[in-house]
Amino acid sequence: MHILITEDDGPMREMLSRFLAGRGHEVEEANGGAQALARLATSPADVLLTDVRMPEMGGVELTQRVKELQPEVAVVVMTAFGSVQTAVEAMRAGAIDYLSKPFKMEEVELVLARIEEERNLRRRVNHLQREVEERFQFANILGQSPVMQRVFELIEQVAPTLSNILISGASGTGKELVARAIHYNCPRRTAPFIPINCSAIPEQLLESELFGHVKGAFTGAERDKKGIFEEAAGGTIFLDEIGDMDQALQVKLLRVIQEREVRRVGSNQAVPVDFRVIAATHRDLEAEMAAGRFREDLYYRLGVITVALPPLVARREDIPLLARHFLAKHAARNQRQVEQIEPEAMRLLLDFDWPGNVRELENVIERGVVLARGATLTPDVLPAKVTGSVGDRLGLGEITDLPMEELERRHILATLERHHWHRVKVAEVLHIDRRTLYRKIKEYGFEPGLLGGGGR
Ligand SMILES: Nc1ncnc2c1ncn2[C@@H]1O[C@H](COP(=O)(O)OP(=O)(O)OP(=O)(O)O)[C@@H](O)[C@H]1O
Ligand SMILES: [Mg+2]
Repeated sequence: MHILITEDDGPMREMLSRFLAGRGHEVEEANGGAQALARLATSPADVLLTDVRMPEMGGVELTQRVKELQPEVAVVVMTAFGSVQTAVEAMRAGAIDYLSKPFKMEEVELVLARIEEERNLRRRVNHLQREVEERFQFANILGQSPVMQRVFELIEQVAPTLSNILISGASGTGKELVARAIHYNCPRRTAPFIPINCSAIPEQLLESELFGHVKGAFTGAERDKKGIFEEAAGGTIFLDEIGDMDQALQVKLLRVIQEREVRRVGSNQAVPVDFRVIAATHRDLEAEMAAGRFREDLYYRLGVITVALPPLVARREDIPLLARHFLAKHAARNQRQVEQIEPEAMRLLLDFDWPGNVRELENVIERGVVLARGATLTPDVLPAKVTGSVGDRLGLGEITDLPMEELERRHILATLERHHWHRVKVAEVLHIDRRTLYRKIKEYGFEPGLLGGGGR
């Protein structure tokens, strides 16, 4: 391993250095905190072995700074005999272990061996996770559920064909992701992919965005402009939220798809165009057709092939894979060292219904990564909608044959939790004497944090 020794006592530093080099480690030395930080900035280390008592910057402060700048460095502090307090402070600042002086060289070896073992383990876990992800993903789309595996197969099959494709699925199920995957896996991947959201743009503007216009076609049209069908030049046009497109425009779109030529707004001249259309919608287009809001002929033109993306509840087995993937992604992005999800937190993620689908899961994990206090994502950093209310956790939602006493017990505990253990307030709310409340708390053995999964 690469080890940086920081120690102001020269002979001690050299002895350690010689010993560790003899054991095959790459060793560097620094005689103080400032020098250590400078070293770390240019040559990264696996382990920082530092004295705590040094002039200028002490070991605890150094630990803190290193953990902020390079959280992956394992810090071990060397404390004077008997100064347990300092060791505790250093551990709190992020040190992984401590050596209390005077120590034997075997002790140093033991600590380093433990660090190395943990590093190897973490590397193996990361490697395995990447392997799992590779096996269960297609172009950044993750899913190990049979439905998603079938979606991958379908994408692979249709991508090269250049036929038009319709993607359906609820909000956040990955429609745009799939559209991009199809484009970037087709023979024309070097041509542009142009997304346009049909519901976000006023009708008249959308028409000119799609087909272009000539100078003077309407007020504000000061020069000729190409539409995206011309811009596509052999690429893909992604018509997002096609179900929201106005009827008159649906007719014009159908004509362009059939005739493969456009007329810019305000012009009669037809320009040949070359494109593939991938359309997406969160609506049920068959129902829209039945209701007369979506043209049948356009539907059959667009939906030569349809890809239906299932909601996340219909493939809960994908949740752990996705959650771990988002955890790694946002930990890296936010430079947080959150590495795993506590089993109880995972259980809550698996139980939730995810109306906002994968996007919502990603948001929840990102929030959790930011709020996490250690290397593990715990239930208390999940939002209330996922953890359920205190009442839910108590099972108050499904009271059936409960004895009075049990009901009382649960009700008092829920009220305490809801009011953050403000006993005066709780006694007031429950219309009972304060002393009675204290007695009940004692009788039932309540204490703050009993329910876990707090955060309210
Ligand atoms: N199977 C998946 N694997 C990895 N990431 C996914 C998956 N599905 C969705 N995502 C991620 O979730 C987010 C939402 O995906 P996307 O924008 O493609 O959904 P959408 O169906 O277009 O949603 P909306 O209807 O809200 O526009 C993106 O950040 C995307 O990367
Ligand atoms: Mg979208």
